[in-house]
Amino acid sequence: MSEKDHPNDYLEMTKFRNLSPSGQQQGLTQPPLELPCDLRFPRLSLPASSEIDLEDISLRLAVEKRITRRDYAKKSLSLKELAYLLWISQGVKLVKEGKLTNRNVPSAGARHAFETYLAINTVEGLQPGLYRYLALTHELVALHHEPDFINRLKVACRNQEHVLSAAVTFIWVSVLDRMSWRYSERSYRYLFLDAGHVCQNLYLAAEQLHCGVCAIAAFDDDEVNNLLGLDGHRMFATYLASLGKQTG
Ligand SMILES: Cc1cc2nc3c(=O)[nH]c(=O)nc-3n(C[C@H](O)[C@H](O)[C@H](O)COP(=O)(O)O)c2cc1C
Repeated sequence: MSEKDHPNDYLEMTKFRNLSPSGQQQGLTQPPLELPCDLRFPRLSLPASSEIDLEDISLRLAVEKRITRRDYAKKSLSLKELAYLLWISQGVKLVKEGKLTNRNVPSAGARHAFETYLAINTVEGLQPGLYRYLALTHELVALHHEPDFINRLKVACRNQEHVLSAAVTFIWVSVLDRMSWRYSERSYRYLFLDAGHVCQNLYLAAEQLHCGVCAIAAFDDDEVNNLLGLDGHRMFATYLASLGKQTG
């Protein structure tokens, strides 16, 4: 069997017997590939990843340079840089028959069950606030510009100061149905594994842009979920990462 024809169906392959029947096994309709977006919110088309001039550093150098950085320069990120980082971490390469996406990161069964929310602080041309990335169309949608939002997010992240000085904090939100439709209870494992791939791509690409990243898992689940209006069960904040320009 070629990689192209791989069924992506680990349940069948591994015959887990202790799981509830998944939605797919019950013949239920597959959830959409992306959360719908209220048309009243303003949308912004993002520059293509090819539009950004990048320092071409080798993967080896990016890996060597990568560390967790929590001190950020007081410099803005350009919109092209932000667009590149979104593409790197969740960009869609292919939509197959409207049923699955292949992206720049791997995902169990190609479920790609994250929505990327962004707490934007200092990105050129963007008002600070909460945004969501629409990966299928490579757009940003502005959800709100509440003045105290970044500070509340910092508090929800157990007062981690780098959330305040970051140009942007990525918040990867799991849409459980998208994963559990195929994998039932085993979805939690796959969501957490998937999140690691996403954040690692961000860490490495940040080195190309002289940016730094700090992964964040020390946060209050309820507080972050409440801030984003998530129920904490079918949708929940899974992993965050602050990002800003490197100092020096
Ligand atoms: C799953 C995970 C969660 C993390 N959560 C936090 C966090 O909440 N706050 C923080 O300052 N660093 C966090 N980190 C960063 C680690 O502290 C850091 O990766 C570790 O100290 C090793 O340093 P290095 O990344 O520079 O190699 C997290 C890293 C991972 C992989």
